[in-house]
Amino acid sequence: MKCTHHCGALRRAAAGQAVCLRGWVNRCRHLGGLVFVDLRDREGMTQIVINPQTSPTLDATAHELRDEFVLAVRGTVRPRPDNMVNRSMPTGEIEVEAAEVEILNRARPMPFNLDDPTVGDEMHLKYRYLDMRRPQLLGNLRLRHRVTKIVRDYFDEEGFIEVETPIISKSTPEGARDFLIPSRVHPGKFYALPQAPQQYKQILMVGGVERYFQIARCFRDEDLRADRQLEFTQIDLEMSFVDAEDVMDVVERLLARLMRETKGVEIAVPFPRMTYADAMNRYGSDKPDLRFGMELVDLSAALRGTAFKVFAGVLAAGGVVKAINAKGQAEAPKRRIDEWTEAVKLFGAKGLAPLKVQADGSLGGQVAKFLSPAEATAVVAAAGAAPGDLLLLVADQTRIVNPALGRLRLDVAQAAGMIPAGVYRFLWVVEFPLLEYDEQEKRFCAVHHPFTSPMAEDMGRLDSDPGSVRAQAYDVVLNGMELGGGSIRIHATGLQARLFSVLGISPEEAQLRFGHLLEALALGAPPHGGLAIGLDRLVMLLAGATSIRDVIAFPKTTRGACLMTDSPSTVDPRQLADLHIACVRPAGEDEK
Ligand code: AMO
Ligand code: AMP
Repeated sequence: MKCTHHCGALRRAAAGQAVCLRGWVNRCRHLGGLVFVDLRDREGMTQIVINPQTSPTLDATAHELRDEFVLAVRGTVRPRPDNMVNRSMPTGEIEVEAAEVEILNRARPMPFNLDDPTVGDEMHLKYRYLDMRRPQLLGNLRLRHRVTKIVRDYFDEEGFIEVETPIISKSTPEGARDFLIPSRVHPGKFYALPQAPQQYKQILMVGGVERYFQIARCFRDEDLRADRQLEFTQIDLEMSFVDAEDVMDVVERLLARLMRETKGVEIAVPFPRMTYADAMNRYGSDKPDLRFGMELVDLSAALRGTAFKVFAGVLAAGGVVKAINAKGQAEAPKRRIDEWTEAVKLFGAKGLAPLKVQADGSLGGQVAKFLSPAEATAVVAAAGAAPGDLLLLVADQTRIVNPALGRLRLDVAQAAGMIPAGVYRFLWVVEFPLLEYDEQEKRFCAVHHPFTSPMAEDMGRLDSDPGSVRAQAYDVVLNGMELGGGSIRIHATGLQARLFSVLGISPEEAQLRFGHLLEALALGAPPHGGLAIGLDRLVMLLAGATSIRDVIAFPKTTRGACLMTDSPSTVDPRQLADLHIACVRPAGEDEK
């Protein structure tokens, strides 16, 4: 039987037509001598009616039908009687009267009820293909397809060339652990899966490609979270003869187009820009969620001469007292405040001081009694507070206060329902620090990666005060999530060598790890820069999903396992011998 329509296609106008549909039995009901089958495929559902009286040959087949059997049905479209029309179904005005039903395949009873919300994640991941038969996951995969299609069209129109870079490659420092591939031919040597195509794309610029992009698979052996997987996909790009503004311009126009074409939402370009320093000071985060206000306010000046020992001590030690004003939250239950106190403590804060603004404008709460009336007035004014508001204060060094209040700001907004739905606030965070000091390793590390160019005006401090040097790096942020990041690169070998030295990478080590890149830079590298967007994160936000797993066909669990294929798994000892590998298991752990 040759298929004529998808199961979502038929309408009243098709009445009388002979059609053939194929799909899965979504549900099968035996009613008054008739058999009703909801036949489903990826486009929708159509009701099939089997009348064993008029077609006795169908009787045996009809009685055999079970959920998820795969069928081909030939029959005639007929309008449903008015009282049988199903308005909630696009095909609800018609049904197909079957003349012939062929069972293409049978199905065992399903391992679980796909619509039962109490069924755990593990079952869904093990039987991922069953989830795909439901509109939600399939819808997300289609959205992902639409996004990559738009991305390819866009870059093509903008003069970019898509180039594939190797998956079997060499270790790249993007800040995570590498996945290694042992070499059979070169005993004791390893390839690495790319954490990003970073070095290849820079070398493509040296090769004169000028404008490169790739929908690139990346691999990072890191701890998984809702927005992280071991393998994920980047929309990766690199451009020659550009500055940061040029890269941001290309990227924001792409994102605006994706928003328009997938969600019908108009986003104004250029996106707002905010320096890293501002983002940390005002939002306590390098990826501020701008869908709501509640900015951090500095109360240090208002409390400069306070007699309250905790605050006075912190201010004397060069710290700050900052707060967020949780509007209208004066009556937040103690349980909430305890949770919030625990939340800031995770960031190293020693405590949280809640101050309620009372009806007469005075302050209430445990700490209020330590503040003079003048201090209380100054605090209320600085915070722009009104009766009914709750001020949440943290006193400590800036590096603790900002992130602690940044976290609290999100928790309070969530709890108080301050985050509007359907709002998309994009921004660029720029002028990131180039380096950060790693207390454990007792040396500076690159914040982005070691190929990022310092800002010209800070170059003079590279040796004297490396921590204060800003990078020509930029992140694109949407609703509090880092969607992508990039930078203008170093294109001069001299500067690259200086940076390696600041990072404590010896010339020998630099040669061993990055010799190929250094040599390429020395052979006529144009000024260049680029960026990578996390495709999974982008599609997740567009789909309104809460985990990137929801937009990946076959994701891994948070422990990095694929439950469907049961990987990772042990391998044949002969394979290990071929690869010159002997496994050392941690003591007490048996082979599974
Ligand atoms: P970066 O490491 O910031 O930059 O990565 C760019 C974007 O990739 C996404 N991303 C991830 N998504 C899912 N799971 C992960 N484990 C994961 N890790 C990162 C994020 C992130 O913003 N080569 C540079 C880019 C450049 O400089 O051009 C790079 O990889 O959305
Ligand atoms: P203490 O005198 O240390 O018991 O602190 C009294 C109250 O001050 C605590 O209950 C907290 O609400 C608050 N507090 C203590 N330390 C801090 C801090 N570093 N920042 C903000 N509030 C604090």
